[in-house]
Amino acid sequence: MDRLRTLFSLVGTGEVFADVGCDHGYLAEMVLKSGNYKRVIISDISKSSLQKAVDLLKPYGDRVTAVVSDGLESFTELPDEVAIAGMGGEEIVKILSSAMSLPKKLVLAPQKNSVKVRKLLFDLGYKILKDFTIKDKGKFYDIISAVEADIEPKEYTNLEYIYGRDNLNERPDDFIEKLTLDEKLYEGVVQTKTASETAKSVAMQKLKEIREILK
Ligand SMILES: C[S@@+](CC[C@H](N)C(=O)[O-])C[C@H]1O[C@@H](n2cnc3c(N)ncnc32)[C@H](O)[C@@H]1O
Repeated sequence: MDRLRTLFSLVGTGEVFADVGCDHGYLAEMVLKSGNYKRVIISDISKSSLQKAVDLLKPYGDRVTAVVSDGLESFTELPDEVAIAGMGGEEIVKILSSAMSLPKKLVLAPQKNSVKVRKLLFDLGYKILKDFTIKDKGKFYDIISAVEADIEPKEYTNLEYIYGRDNLNERPDDFIEKLTLDEKLYEGVVQTKTASETAKSVAMQKLKEIREILK
């Protein structure tokens, strides 16, 4: 399924939604079109990237507020829900851990290091609602939605942190395809004579995990 449509399917309803690192602004456009949120804040660290979204969303008038911002740093109001997609997990972790205040709900799509994002969500007191992998145009993406928890959420197991709870419980086709490809990749490393002992031992550990999940 299309990555942005999948993200949009996880967006809730309310007063103010923010698309952090919005670039083109396509996700914000879907939210505005749907009417799920009354207002949308579009933001990006890059003025020229933000301008693309400003141009696209002109028809929505004063339902849109644009702000050049590193993460949530320059926000003057707290949105109900924030999406952060298309950047590395470490950048997402930096944005969330340096925010003065955090929204009730998050929709995240880390390009890598999803494990760090999952761990931070737990540390910040969020409950992960959805956590799965999708394939879009030949690439795999982790998609995570989370909500501020009323009671301490049940902590993930080590494998859930690495692979995502829904992936392990529901085994979606895209996730199984990714694991099968990763299995071949790590088999290649193990069989490569010139690979370092460290690389081989990491690959063996990954193979053990993957085969445990695939069996
Ligand atoms: C690959 S684009 C993703 C666009 C869109 N969110 C998506 O998922 O299709 C990443 C965008 O994040 C912006 N970005 C990177 N780090 C950021 C930060 N710390 N705060 C705000 N925007 C950031 C970049 O300028 C860029 O426009």
